[in-house]
Parts: sequence; C-alpha cells; structure tokens
Amino acid sequence: MDKKNRNGILIASFPVIGLLMFAPAPSAESRQNPEISNSQGETLYRSACSSCHGTDGRGAPQYRVGFDLPLPDFSDCSFASREPDSDWLAIAHDGGPARGFSELMPAFGEALSFGEMKSILSYIRSFCGNEDWPPGELNLPKSLVTEKAYPEDEAVYSLAVDVEGLTGVSNKIVYEKRFGARNQFELTVPFGWAEKDVSGTQEPSAENWLGGLGDIAVGVKRAFFHNARTGTIFSATGEIVLPTGDREKGFGKGTTVFEPFVSFGQVLPSEFFFQSQAGFELPADTDRSGREAFWRLVLGRSFTSGRFGRSWSPMFEVLAARELESGQKVQWDMVPQMQVTLNRRQHIMANVGVRLPLTDGDMRDTQLLFYLLWDWFDGGFFEGW
Ligand code: HEC
Repeated sequence: MDKKNRNGILIASFPVIGLLMFAPAPSAESRQNPEISNSQGETLYRSACSSCHGTDGRGAPQYRVGFDLPLPDFSDCSFASREPDSDWLAIAHDGGPARGFSELMPAFGEALSFGEMKSILSYIRSFCGNEDWPPGELNLPKSLVTEKAYPEDEAVYSLAVDVEGLTGVSNKIVYEKRFGARNQFELTVPFGWAEKDVSGTQEPSAENWLGGLGDIAVGVKRAFFHNARTGTIFSATGEIVLPTGDREKGFGKGTTVFEPFVSFGQVLPSEFFFQSQAGFELPADTDRSGREAFWRLVLGRSFTSGRFGRSWSPMFEVLAARELESGQKVQWDMVPQMQVTLNRRQHIMANVGVRLPLTDGDMRDTQLLFYLLWDWFDGGFFEGW
C-alpha cells in the first residue's frame, strides 16, 4: 500500500471509530448500581432462587431439584467473582438460554423487577464475600496490542499481516491460566511466514517464503491492586522471552529478553474504559537486540445490541516505543479497532484493526491485526452459541 492510501485509512478511521465511541449512551441497565438492601435480596433469593440454588448458594441436592445438571456454586469465589453483574442479570431476566445455558434456569423478567433482581444479585455476591478476587466488571475488553491488567483464563490466537512492502504474516498463540485470587501464568508461542528479501529481482513465488517458530515467552502476572467501587485495576507482569526462534530467518532476537511491565485498567462512565501498559524490553545480549521502553494507551467504549445481546467495543490504541540509546526517537503507532463478542455466552470474541505507523512509515509496514479469543473458563469453544 502506498503512503497516500495509508494516510487515507488513517484519516478515515478517526471519524468512524470516533462516531462509534461518541454515539448516544447505550442502554446500559447492567452497570448501574443502586443502593440496595441486602435483606430484601436475601428474602427474594430464598423465595425465588434457593429451591434450586440452595440457601447457601452452592446448589440444592439433585434429589430435591429433580434434574442432574450440575448447579453453579455461588460461594466459589474463583467462579463467582469473574462473572460480571451484566451477565447474571441477563440470565436472571431472560433465563439460561440468554447466555447459552440450559432452560432449566428459568426467566424471571416477568416475575421480578430489575431492582429486585439486582438486590438478589448483590445478595448472591455475599456468598463469596472475599474481596481479594477482582470482580468481572474490571475485566475490560482486550485490545489488539496492550496487555490487560485483569488475570485471565484465556486462549488467544492472533494474526498480524503486513499489507505493504516486504510481506510477512505473524501468528501468536497465547495461553493464560489463573492461579489464586490475583495471579496468572502466561505462555506465548509465536510463529510466522516471511518473504525473503529478493530486492525485486524475482517474481513473487511461494519459494521465496520462509516459515518458522518465533521466540517463546513465559510470564507471571499479579493484580496488585483493584477497587470495585472506583472501577480500577493495576497489575505487574514479569515475562521471559526465550531465543527459540531462528534469527537467521528473521524469527527471533537471538537472545533471551526480560520484559517487565505494569498494566492499568479503569472503568469510565457511560461504558467507556481506559487501559494502559508500560514496560521495558531488556535483552541479555544487547549486541543482538537493543534495550527498549514502551508504553501503550487504549480508550474504548462498549455497546450492547438490544438489552442483553452481542457486545461491540470500538477502541483506539496508541503505541509508543523507544530504544534506550541516546539520540533514538520515539516510534508511534495507532491502532483503530473493533472487538465483538461472537456467541451468546460471550466467551468467544474477535477483534480486528489496523496498525498504522505514525513515525518512520517508510521503514515500518502498516499491518492488519486480528485475534480470536476464547475465555475457556466459561465453557468449551463450541458451547453457548
Ligand atoms: C428451577 C431451578 C432454578 C431456579 C428456581 C433458579 N435457577 Fe438459576 N440456574 C439453574 C440451573 C439449572 C442453572 C445452570 C444452567 C446451566 O449450567 O446450563 C442455573 C444457573 C444460574 C446462573 C448462571 C451462573 C453461571 O454459570 O454463570 C445464574 C446467575 C442464576 N442461575 C441465577 C438465578 C437467580 C438469580 C435465581 C432466582 C431469581 C435463579 N437462578 C433461580 C436453575 C434454577
């Protein structure tokens, strides 16, 4: 793509994403949090829900409910804390199928008001009662590049395609696994294909393409701070990138890289959200790869189609990186993008965007970015559609 086209995309993407983000406020009954009395919630829970979910929230025994589908355990913090109120409200209002669960979970939309359902939910929340676990409301939509602060059980496949110049395709599979209330382990396996630099002397052909494994990374994240009331979460991650890639083919740095970084997430009014990440890339062998500082910012907003339907999140991401040598300039990129939930359970999501270099555009390619995300704790890939 030539420079003019690229500038065209850049200019066109601002108003499109901008309009989406600043459109009228979505019908967000979900995140309002009226003052509710827990005793009303308890009374209602006991009359409407406990026959199946049990007075202790762990699920009534099978012989009493008359079906053998396992009931959720609301006292299990690992499960209950991560489910945002909006999802549970959708299920209580429209019944299990609203989120791809069984119709054995009845709809209460006719029998109970929103206020009553919210009071029940806040009572259900008290079954876990341990505030060490960051609530699901702080699990903000994942952008294409910036690392989230929320600890996750997730598998993500991502793809980056150079759309101009020396063409390359990079893929990455990321596996994330939570442990304890606030920690997460992470494994990243990159692989890709790149066109050999044949300097325009040959016709393009498949033989000019090389495939290979990249640098595998392992990391540990910890959410050091969160506040459900202010909608804030902050975490720190240490990652080690191993030189498993073939440097000769261009698939690795050829040296171990230590990557410490911090991530921050903030819920904003009207379904807006802000996220940021900042850190360093510190290679063991600085002859092979330079030390670098990076920082990334994301502003986005979520929209729900209908009352409890699909969720759309347009986001603007700004990326900055600077080699830590004197005289180096900051490299800036911009990534307008759109995330969407694909299934009813909303645990399968996709995001697509364009990474546009704002500096040194002649040396760095515009890239098309995409990911497919599976929040595997919420069910199998083919469940809940
Ligand atoms: C007739 C039995 C029954 C009653 C009454 C009932 N539920 Fe359920 N509920 C279920 C079953 C069964 C499931 C599990 C569905 C599945 O796994 O597919 C469920 C699941 C749920 C979930 C989903 C949890 C998750 O996995 O994310 C929520 C939330 C919930 N119920 C809330 C309520 C509330 C609130 C009430 C009372 C207003 C209520 N239920 C009353 C049977 C019931």
